[in-house]
Amino acid sequence: MHSKVDFLVIGTGMAGLIFALKVAEYGKVCVLSKTDMDETATSYAQGGIAAVMYSPDSYEKHIADTMNAGGGLNDENIVRITITESTERIQELVDWGTHFDKEDSGKFALAKEGGHSEFRILHHKDNTGYEIQRALSERVRNHPNIDLLEKYFSIDLITQHHLDQEVTRRRKDTTCYGVYALNQKTGEIETLLAKTTLIATGGIGNIYQTTTNPTFATGDGVAMAYRAKAIVKDLEFVQFHPTSLYNPGEKPSFLITEAMRGAGAILKTREGNEFMLTYDPRGSLAPRDIVARAIDNEMKHSGDDNVYLDARGIPNSEIMHHFPTIYAKCLSIGIDITKDMIPVVPAAHYSCGGVKADEYGRTSICNLYATGEVADTGLHGANRLASNSLLESAVFSHRAALDAIAKIKDIKFIHSVPDWDAEGMVLMEEMILITQTKKEVQSIMSNYVGIVRSNIRLKRALDRLEIIFKETEDLYQKSIVSEEIFELRNLINVAYLVIKFAQRRKESIGLHFTIDYPKKEQSN
Ligand code: FAD
Ligand code: SIN
Repeated sequence: MHSKVDFLVIGTGMAGLIFALKVAEYGKVCVLSKTDMDETATSYAQGGIAAVMYSPDSYEKHIADTMNAGGGLNDENIVRITITESTERIQELVDWGTHFDKEDSGKFALAKEGGHSEFRILHHKDNTGYEIQRALSERVRNHPNIDLLEKYFSIDLITQHHLDQEVTRRRKDTTCYGVYALNQKTGEIETLLAKTTLIATGGIGNIYQTTTNPTFATGDGVAMAYRAKAIVKDLEFVQFHPTSLYNPGEKPSFLITEAMRGAGAILKTREGNEFMLTYDPRGSLAPRDIVARAIDNEMKHSGDDNVYLDARGIPNSEIMHHFPTIYAKCLSIGIDITKDMIPVVPAAHYSCGGVKADEYGRTSICNLYATGEVADTGLHGANRLASNSLLESAVFSHRAALDAIAKIKDIKFIHSVPDWDAEGMVLMEEMILITQTKKEVQSIMSNYVGIVRSNIRLKRALDRLEIIFKETEDLYQKSIVSEEIFELRNLINVAYLVIKFAQRRKESIGLHFTIDYPKKEQSN
């Protein structure tokens, strides 16, 4: 089946929905989600969205904090754009119906998180992302120009490579014409053609065993773009959130927001000793890379499976008012956070790298944009400052929409595209091969390409992955089309890229820490 729209949006998180709402005034839009529309990382976001709202905060302070966290590898122009446009984008979210918590004075209540020199995190209790998703989803569902396709798995971007089998190398004018997508309700692969395509597929967290990311986050967007020969970058910079709830077997890992440390919670050992001050003068509120490494070190030395977050110093009223979701979640597994310390471990949380995108979200492929977590605009450098990613989605989806709207009238539809070639695929009976291989990839990445790396660990990871890659490509040729085999292939592609980028970087900086090059100064 073929269908044609002006704007195709892959992803229904904040990045996809903002773009869709903006372009929908200028043409027909189709929005795809792999699962249900609201099952997004956006919905899970707790802490909030960083923006400069009132003095004594200033754009310059937020810019400096972002650059410091990023170890100076950030693109300063992009940082400046993001932060100077933050106030306007927040106002737009409010105009669209998002509620952020306010003080009695009517001003927004602002929280503080690691690496921020000021209180600047707008939030809605401890479920900010859910509130943003709610407001955006409502508008998208009711928009007459937007078609929503849920449970549609985007497999591959359609480019000249599909029209001309001879083209195998990157070409300057590679153009995107849409995607092949698996309609999970019918099992059919459909050809969705578009003048303009946005990838907003979110993160890659599931290449690791422990992650805060929803299970759909298997790096599909990065893998699709890479296979289409788009430029990808900075994939060595995987952010581990220091404090996910230690609750073995739970997927995704439940996050304990950094805002809790901003409100006074302190990291401690099993014995109740505060340890962060021996690593950094900012203690529990040092940037994430430093805190995650410190926890990793403490766990390795003590042999414990976790450390603890002590929130008992926060007044009960503040816990109930600002952190009701965390309070209820912990209580559901027998932990009363007003009386007990919370067991926590680091978990893969955010990919700073991704598909290279410029200040208008444009990728290296014509008519293909990337925004949100899948994109690498250069905002985060070597380490993302907390709560800067929702902001990045808002700013660059807005900008990508401006660019796409300006160009749409000059883009023609492609006439004919071959259907997906499913020849040679037979029934996949050995499902265990897929599930087992997925676990193997996650284990390799967690053991050898985690918070602390070395040359030998990275080499071992690559050697193991190459075997798995060959086995999986073979399986892929024979398998019946299924989300599982497509996802596995993407996971392997992305894991490979993370290792290759990590091997290429011969220094320790930000989120990439290797014991073979330990000297380089860490972010401060
Ligand atoms: P997502 O919101 O993840 O949406 C991705 C969409 O892509 C989904 O609709 C999915 O179905 C779709 N998709 C993926 N692959 C395919 C495919 N193959 N085919 C079709 N559709 C596909 N950031 C902050 O700034 N502040 C916070 O407080 C914060 N807290 C967080 C807490 C948690 C637990 C997590 C996991 C992340 C948090 N982050 C936070 C990060 C932030 O939430 C994400 O980076 C951001 O929401 C990403 O938005 P997105 O629109 O790019 O992707
Ligand atoms: C958190 O609430 O700690 C997550 C914030 C973020 O990932 O930016």
